[in-house]
Amino acid sequence: MTTTATIVDEVEKPRPKVHRALLAQIRPTGQSPWHLTHAHSHPPLRPDQVLIKTSYVALNPFDWQGVAFKYGIGEGAKVMGRDGAGKIVGVGEDVKNFKLGDRVWFCANSSASHTGAFQEYSVHFAAEVGHTPDHLSDQEAATLGTGLITAGVALFRTLGIPLEALKGDGRTAREKNAAWMLIWGGAGITGVYLIQLARLLGYRIICSASPVNHEYIRSLGADVVLDRWSDSNELLKQIREVSKDDVRIAVDNVGSTTATLCQEVLRGSRTWREQANFETHNDDTAPGRLVPLAGSPKVAIDETDAVRKVDSLRISFSTTFYGHPDFSRALLERFDDLLKKKKLSPARSQLVPGGLYGIEKGLDDLRHGRVQGGFKLVARLADTPTEINITGKRERAADEGEGEAEHVSDKRVREDQGEASANPIKRVKKSISGKQVESPVESGKHSVIKV
Ligand SMILES: NC(=O)c1ccc[n+]([C@@H]2O[C@H](COP(=O)([O-])OP(=O)(O)OC[C@H]3O[C@@H](n4cnc5c(N)ncnc54)[C@H](OP(=O)(O)O)[C@@H]3O)[C@@H](O)[C@H]2O)c1
Repeated sequence: MTTTATIVDEVEKPRPKVHRALLAQIRPTGQSPWHLTHAHSHPPLRPDQVLIKTSYVALNPFDWQGVAFKYGIGEGAKVMGRDGAGKIVGVGEDVKNFKLGDRVWFCANSSASHTGAFQEYSVHFAAEVGHTPDHLSDQEAATLGTGLITAGVALFRTLGIPLEALKGDGRTAREKNAAWMLIWGGAGITGVYLIQLARLLGYRIICSASPVNHEYIRSLGADVVLDRWSDSNELLKQIREVSKDDVRIAVDNVGSTTATLCQEVLRGSRTWREQANFETHNDDTAPGRLVPLAGSPKVAIDETDAVRKVDSLRISFSTTFYGHPDFSRALLERFDDLLKKKKLSPARSQLVPGGLYGIEKGLDDLRHGRVQGGFKLVARLADTPTEINITGKRERAADEGEGEAEHVSDKRVREDQGEASANPIKRVKKSISGKQVESPVESGKHSVIKV
């Protein structure tokens, strides 16, 4: 069922019928999977949905992983991207918690093009959108999305901690004997939010991170921060010593190898205890719980030496958050409150040049570890070069039937702009001059701009 939603855009200006979006699709080897459409549109709003005009988007590992490993994309072009911030410009008739002009942030269910973040307007269920408090900029709010929602789902659904326990009552001192939580990869964006929530929940926190991030990680609430570059046996020893071999919960944000190390920590070690002359706890046999976010442990635990079993728990958004308005609304209301009271802080951010055009380069930096931990890459949509809008050619894109993709046409640019600006690639380079830009590539008969 659809509804005629109220649509406004900056009050007086009529909203354009189509908008710009960055599309991805599987392409032959050597061709960029990314290209820009100027003719994306969205379906009518359902009564429980909102239309968001996005000003900033943030980049996630998932965005390059999906393209590189071909999940979430196919032969047809699709808008990728999960995280963004902007304002409400359309509301379905049943929506009670938002009004036109409200500032918002989101972690999109990027299963369909109209929800993907990498575009100017996108459609979302109102129950899956958060309010941006006045003291946060849209750039800061765009960093919240996937990191904060993943942390929330991991803690309050996968691990089953009651949401009511997240009081955010300003508690600063942890109880002396509070339970330990191990967060491997504390400087990843998910880690940044996990640490803050775990602290509000009253856990004592052990993290691993590069030394350059240790001070930052401590400022978020970690009690013990270990050097991620240390030998893994040394790391295990340090964790056992500091926790008295009593870590019961671990979240891994890095991959299979480090998830295996987390599993090793959680099982406890009889050998280590004997050598350390360490007393066993009464409740030691309760299983340890691991949430591996980026890959499951590679090897089974060595049960002969284990103090306890380890349950490896798989995170799922589709069975908890997306399409589950009772939980998503309750979680977001709790986050709204904590953000408003400044009990939760956004991750640090770094702007990529070129708006939508800069996303491919930003994702490449993310993929190859060229981004400092605890910094979220964000793109401002207004930075997308406007000259490139000049186009005379349209072709139907396999874009879920939602619109027509426009590609830059050298010919039309020549006609409209004169010979001096005939090359749209140079024009793009010029328009974002002074910033790090790679040479664009040519693909097929249309120019594809790669920044
Ligand atoms: N399953 C899901 O639903 C889900 C949800 C969210 C994220 N994820 C996955 O979780 C992973 C992390 O995502 P993110 O957005 O938090 O990543 P991110 O912000 O890109 O994390 C990058 C940081 O991870 C840290 N790191 C890398 N290798 C490490 C190691 N061996 N030990 C400790 N820290 C290490 C580095 O910190 P330093 O700078 O301190 O070295 C690096 O800066 C990604 O693979 C993502 O796809 C999965």
